[in-house]
Amino acid sequence: MSTPERDPEFEELLAFIRDQRGFDFTGYKRPSLRRRISKRMKDVRVATFPAYRAYLEQNPDEFVELFNTILINVTAFFRDDVAWDHLRTEVVPQILELNDGLEGTIRMWSTGCATGEEAFSLAMSFAEELGDDEFKRRVKIYATDIDDDALTSGRHAEYSAKQMEPVPADLRERYFEQRNGNFAFRTDLRRAVIFGRHDLIQDPPISRISLLLSRNTLMYFDSQTQRRILANFSFSLREGGYLFLGKSEALAARSDLFVPVDLKRRIFKKAQRTAPLQIQAAVTVEEQEALAQLAAAALIRDAGFDAVPVAQLVVDRAENLVLANLQARALFALSARDLGRPFKDLEVSFRPIELRSRIEQVYSERHIISLRDVEWRSGNEVRYVDVQISPLIAVTGAVVGAGITFTEVTRYRRLQQALEDSKHEMETAYEELQSTVEELETTNEELQSTNEELETTNEELQSTNEELETMNEELQSTNEELETMNDELNERSFELNAANAFLEAVLSSLQAGVIVVDKNFVITAWNEGARDLWGLRQDEVVGKHLNNLDIGLPVDDLRTPMRDTLATGIGTHLEIPAVNRRGRHVTSRVSLMPLVAGDGEARGLIMLTQADGVDGGRP
Ligand SMILES: C[S@@+](CC[C@H](N)C(=O)[O-])C[C@H]1O[C@@H](n2cnc3c(N)ncnc32)[C@H](O)[C@@H]1O
Repeated sequence: MSTPERDPEFEELLAFIRDQRGFDFTGYKRPSLRRRISKRMKDVRVATFPAYRAYLEQNPDEFVELFNTILINVTAFFRDDVAWDHLRTEVVPQILELNDGLEGTIRMWSTGCATGEEAFSLAMSFAEELGDDEFKRRVKIYATDIDDDALTSGRHAEYSAKQMEPVPADLRERYFEQRNGNFAFRTDLRRAVIFGRHDLIQDPPISRISLLLSRNTLMYFDSQTQRRILANFSFSLREGGYLFLGKSEALAARSDLFVPVDLKRRIFKKAQRTAPLQIQAAVTVEEQEALAQLAAAALIRDAGFDAVPVAQLVVDRAENLVLANLQARALFALSARDLGRPFKDLEVSFRPIELRSRIEQVYSERHIISLRDVEWRSGNEVRYVDVQISPLIAVTGAVVGAGITFTEVTRYRRLQQALEDSKHEMETAYEELQSTVEELETTNEELQSTNEELETTNEELQSTNEELETMNEELQSTNEELETMNDELNERSFELNAANAFLEAVLSSLQAGVIVVDKNFVITAWNEGARDLWGLRQDEVVGKHLNNLDIGLPVDDLRTPMRDTLATGIGTHLEIPAVNRRGRHVTSRVSLMPLVAGDGEARGLIMLTQADGVDGGRP
């Protein structure tokens, strides 16, 4: 079937491979086939199918690599052991029964056998049941594959310890011998297994088979090819023969060529066929020939009807199902037994859509009724079909029945839906893109202005920095100057301290009480002699006004001479009565001298005070 979405370049490549090497992959499922071929293309760094075709032309060795990539030889002994257990316990005895007790030859076929593990699993299962001699005498197992390398490996019948893991220890013991560090299937039994190249798509089937194994191979083919191969299998199997498929292969269940024996384990039996015409009923030779011709014509008509790619049903005026082609049988799970049954008893008469009233309508109106996109739900799955109901009008003009056609449009609906979704997504994405672009433009402008501001700030910072550096230098030089001044000050301070100490020593050494006041008569110096004489310490009097002192010297009497001395700058001597610190009356001799600075101006007064005792004795 050529489907519209197929890529012509890819199909051309498949045709090229078929024509060049005889490997026909056109019947394989496209997605996995494309994936595998694309993997090779990636490995040889080729981007397009035409380029890969050219590469194959120039590098014929690539065909081998390509076939190794496409033909997956994954297999194992007793792969899917539950199904094999069932086969051994339930099916093997029935096959022996089918083959006339223990007499006839039992022909079996393992298709897509890869490296032979499946064929030898079969051999062990029958040898267990028959015993060695009977097995050797009666069993023939055809082990076929399209892959020559896998077949060569199967013919060697040697397996590594890892490959042997699924084989139970007792079977390993009985059926294998050690060879080159591997396990080799016993040579005497090995002869019952015949390896050969066979292409399921192109080669005619092997006949008179009692048990046919096609496991994990059909799944690589598209459904149409699978149907063709299943028809070959049906031909290949003898009446009552068994078909054993892989876990994920169930198409046989939908074909009326097989009846399920154990659907879960994918074991089927060939369905019994009834002859379409009983030509034995004819009496004369002419009648027999005519009937034979009719039978041949009927066969061709049936085959043609079956080959139509859409599902078709024919109902007669008595409302019985008269015909159902291959597609319809597969689609509605109809079998040969349903032909002739009242249409109303069949599910198809009301699912996916009620048909009987519509059939009545086409009878009365003699017009075709077309129904588009009819929804068909089964479980979670939703499918869509176009249904067309046509009146069947005989040459006499009478309406003799109705033809009903179902065209599966699920894929188109999904594509349409996907297209609309994509369009919607694209529109949304476009809008988002536009708003993003606008936002970006705004952000860009803001960034530009921020950048300008930053540049300005940077310049300002640079100039501030320069200023700071200048200030720093200035501060450094000021600091140096200050340090110099500080040194000088320290020096002066030292000198001053020395001078002060000297003066204080002078003052202390004088016997007389020395009092120094400023121009306002506030005391600025007061020596030890003054303390001894007048009873107050230096820290009690310095900074106080002389007149405010409570001492035995009558300072009021001194105010006038002090003013005079200040005004004239001429010293004077006085003798005045006083009371010393012991409370004795004494005569105090006071000498007043102006305190003159270097500029000649009087800054205060120096008073020398001495006392002579009046009460007799020392003051
Ligand atoms: C995954 S293996 C299955 C092996 C085994 N039947 C099993 O189930 O363990 C599939 C095998 O099918 C073979 N094969 C692919 N296409 C084929 C074809 N057209 N005819 C025959 N064998 C084919 C492959 O070469 C491969 O060895």
